[in-house]
Amino acid sequence: MTDPRNIVILTGAGISAESGIATFRGPGGLWEGHRVEDVCTPQALRADPDLVHRFYDLRRAALTRVEPNAAHHALVRLDRDWAGDLLLVTQNVDDLHDRAGSRRLLHMHGELKSRLCAACGDRAPHDGDLPPGSACPACHAPALRPDIVFFGEMPYAMERIEDAILSCDLFVSIGTSGAVYPAAGFVELARHAGAATLELNLERSAGSARFDDSRLGAAGTLVPAWVDAVLTGAA
Ligand code: OAD
Repeated sequence: MTDPRNIVILTGAGISAESGIATFRGPGGLWEGHRVEDVCTPQALRADPDLVHRFYDLRRAALTRVEPNAAHHALVRLDRDWAGDLLLVTQNVDDLHDRAGSRRLLHMHGELKSRLCAACGDRAPHDGDLPPGSACPACHAPALRPDIVFFGEMPYAMERIEDAILSCDLFVSIGTSGAVYPAAGFVELARHAGAATLELNLERSAGSARFDDSRLGAAGTLVPAWVDAVLTGAA
């Protein structure tokens, strides 16, 4: 393609794998020993709030033991040094893009380091444990929960993301299995808008066939190489 002017990037768990954070659909299909539906649905939160809160408390605490990797850092270089329009949309609830320094960033599935009030919708940064029944500072209801978009709930910033995809000329998907909608449908939206589509993933994904170009390998290698190519006009 000609040099891109407007890029939307979607990242998934694979970009954080080399930092030591488990992906969701690895061998055995368990996420840190749990079925995703046992810790990532509104029903699970109602049925066993202690289990769900504890699960995310442990994931939040584990963030102190991991660091951004070469792929996160490469996307920061792109954000900082590239003059075109850019939006980085992550499905990840870790804070590695943030800590690396990405600015034009949206967390569509929420964030471990944030809490949500189930009563009034207030969202605020949060660190440390979050026991069930914690009171919301905004409305005082005992309704604080992890700010994670559970299955069946609407991801954040969908309108802004779809607008960005409809006006991009390159859509890049990094380290995601393409198993979870609506993110898995972004590539079709991009194609519909006439954008070129590129996948960087360890292995072929459920959606690989929908990309113009699918490059296989570790994100820590593929992403810096791709960013170098964009910055030198050789993408
Ligand atoms: P998955 O675990 O489904 O997919 C991770 C993808 O990353 C797989 O295709 C792997 O092959 C690939 N991968 C693994 N290591 C890699 C590496 N070093 N370099 C490049 N790719 C690598 O994770 P997601 O697609 O992110 O939702 O899952 C989507 C959503 O499902 C998550 O956001 C989560 C989960 O339910 C919520 O938490 C709301």
